[in-house]
Amino acid sequence: MKIAVIGLGKLGSCHAAVMAYKGFEVVGADLNQKFVDKINSGIAPVIETGLQNLIDNCDKRLKATTKVSDAVKDSDVIFVIVPTPSDEEGRFSLNYSIDAAESIGEGLKTSTRPYPIVVMTSTVMPGDTGGKFVPAIEKFSGKKLGQHFGACYSPEFIALGSVVRDMLNPDMILIGESDKKSGDIIQSIYEKSCDNKPYFARMNFVNAELTKISVNSYVTTKISYANTLAQICSRIKGANSDTVLEAVGKDSRIGNKYLKGGLAFGGPCFPRDNIAFSKVAEDIGIDSILAKAVDSTNHYHTKFVASMVQQYANGKKKVGILGLSYKPQTPVIDVSPGIALARELLRHGLEVFAYDPMATENAKAVLSELKYCNNSKECIDNSEIIFICTAWPEFSKLKTQEISDKNLVIVDCWRILDNNEWKEYPNLVKLGVGQ
Ligand SMILES: NC(=O)c1ccc[n+]([C@@H]2O[C@H](COP(=O)([O-])OP(=O)(O)OC[C@H]3O[C@@H](n4cnc5c(N)ncnc54)[C@H](O)[C@@H]3O)[C@@H](O)[C@H]2O)c1
Repeated sequence: MKIAVIGLGKLGSCHAAVMAYKGFEVVGADLNQKFVDKINSGIAPVIETGLQNLIDNCDKRLKATTKVSDAVKDSDVIFVIVPTPSDEEGRFSLNYSIDAAESIGEGLKTSTRPYPIVVMTSTVMPGDTGGKFVPAIEKFSGKKLGQHFGACYSPEFIALGSVVRDMLNPDMILIGESDKKSGDIIQSIYEKSCDNKPYFARMNFVNAELTKISVNSYVTTKISYANTLAQICSRIKGANSDTVLEAVGKDSRIGNKYLKGGLAFGGPCFPRDNIAFSKVAEDIGIDSILAKAVDSTNHYHTKFVASMVQQYANGKKKVGILGLSYKPQTPVIDVSPGIALARELLRHGLEVFAYDPMATENAKAVLSELKYCNNSKECIDNSEIIFICTAWPEFSKLKTQEISDKNLVIVDCWRILDNNEWKEYPNLVKLGVGQ
């Protein structure tokens, strides 16, 4: 079985490498020559935990090209993982996918395979796989769905920083299918590529498209609930959101995953999938009050955290941000809560210093007003109050002896500092814990 992966970015390069590592012949295609050259030289084109190791161990089964139609022509299954950016209103654009459909159509015209299957993996609006993407493939290839080729919508549920682990061990594989044969083939591929035995959710396109954004919209609701509780506990003496939420999550109707107060949710999926969910409702005359409230709660949470400067360090003007990536183990800063907090603090006229182990260069490109530091010590030494915004392991290992000015207020947003090490420190504030 030969697999093509169209789009070798943050998700596609990992998808291609996992499939090759698990024994499939894989050809990746991307318009970005640098990514293609890197794959062909055995180098990971993006920073992602475990990706290089997969590439090192896939026994030359992974190749890449800039010619999408060539990759498609000799492939049994074609995964499409190109960007679907949000438009100004929050719906996902299919522009890249339609461009890709043109090249895929070219390849299908001369396909050497009896029934190739095109799989849309990118996140799309409900209705778009069957209503726009497949018709574009039919138009550009001159072939008919169900007769000459099959199609599936099969998005991934992964988090950057753990993409490889998440792909190898998913809870669930979602397959929207044009026909049973196509769904069976895609299921058989995932049965081989996963280390575990995930639940296979098989359905039509539109249900799968709805499922994808519904999962993320639900998780953002859960996070916002936890963050609201963290705000409440922060202002009640003796209250501790970790204690309360640990118990709340033990109720089997609720569960503990993602039930932790911290900073606002961010990244390239959660915020925009939740907004898209509300747009789906709006487009058919439904006011999705809950999804909109989750979005506002998330913005309000950043303001709440910023207000801790007045509460704990009133009059102090120099603030440090430790952590600019939206989560640990990635340089990605899309909708990063650390950056959102920095913007909010700058708006209040404060001087903001910042350090991140991986994301500094990306942050400089979008926020030049920050004073970037070369390490956490430099950031700490310049600041009067510090926010630990990303739970990077190196921040959890901070020692009290590294703090020369014991008046420095430290806000531990994720409660990652070691309790024994920090119990005597006079100015430690834990988000979600009333003092
Ligand atoms: N990154 C995530 O955490 C994540 C998680 C779940 C779902 N997704 C979804 O996956 C999709 C891809 O996301 P990503 O983060 O990998 O994007 P990305 O921007 O990192 O990568 C996309 C790649 O597609 C290539 N490309 C664009 N048009 C092309 C074309 N016509 N032919 C060939 N290659 C083309 C680009 O050059 C780029 O390398 C999006 O729909 C996204 O919503 C992403």
